[in-house]
Amino acid sequence: MNIVLFGPPGAGKGTQASVLSEWYGLLHISTGDMLREAVKKGTMVGRQAKAYMDKGELVPDNIVINIVTERISQKDAKCGFLLDGFPRNKRQADQFDQALCKKGKKIDMVLYFKTSPEVSIRRLSGRRVCTNCGANFHIETMPAKLKGTCDYCHSLLIHRKDDQRGTVQNRLVVYKKETNYLIGYYKDKGILREVSGDLKVKELFEKIKRLFAKEGLRGVA
Ligand code: AP5
Repeated sequence: MNIVLFGPPGAGKGTQASVLSEWYGLLHISTGDMLREAVKKGTMVGRQAKAYMDKGELVPDNIVINIVTERISQKDAKCGFLLDGFPRNKRQADQFDQALCKKGKKIDMVLYFKTSPEVSIRRLSGRRVCTNCGANFHIETMPAKLKGTCDYCHSLLIHRKDDQRGTVQNRLVVYKKETNYLIGYYKDKGILREVSGDLKVKELFEKIKRLFAKEGLRGVA
């Protein structure tokens, strides 16, 4: 099954994607993670993307469409994928549908994490990210065992530059202007399902599992 996790910044898409990908044996593809990795490595894509990401603007469509299309062509995407952070506007959605169609694939479900802007802001202002393995923490809801240190690889935790309040507000504006439109787009296709992103992490995971079971998806973990 090919699933899109959809919602505003801070809705909890990445957090749920990590556990869902293990539970269901689906490949987690995060455009944000791939772009941050490219920035870290200083690749051409990273150099092109950095300025947009720092301001909380969308990276040009052709860049993200190419990296996603390339990623889903790899062997490990054959059994299905969970897309996190893509598509983010009509052009990305249309072009991705066409690319999937050429490969005889489609998006089976779009899971919308309906989340209030207040929750997004609170989550992102408290998020801390590992500089090495990328694991996510939150100073209140998911604190690291040792402050400022990753539980998994013991590397330094940082506050992402685009998680500063002003940039978060701009990301929410961009979401409303460009991405929100896709709710209607996928509703019209009959593949949109909705959950509340405001729920606690475990409650939301259980809710999603029940919803996936109704859609005929069984866990492998
Ligand atoms: P990206 O990395 O995709 O950021 P985002 O979509 O804004 O998503 P976030 O990672 O901020 O939020 P999330 O919903 O995954 O929440 P999370 O689980 O981490 O994109 C970054 C940038 O890259 C963009 O601004 C853009 O420049 C560029 N980009 C990426 N994709 C692009 C595309 N397709 N087109 C163009 N440009 C693109 O959780 C957040 C925090 O909350 C964490 O601290 C977590 O611990 C906590 N938390 C999570 N769930 C819960 C819960 N249920 N209860 C309490 N706390 C929770």
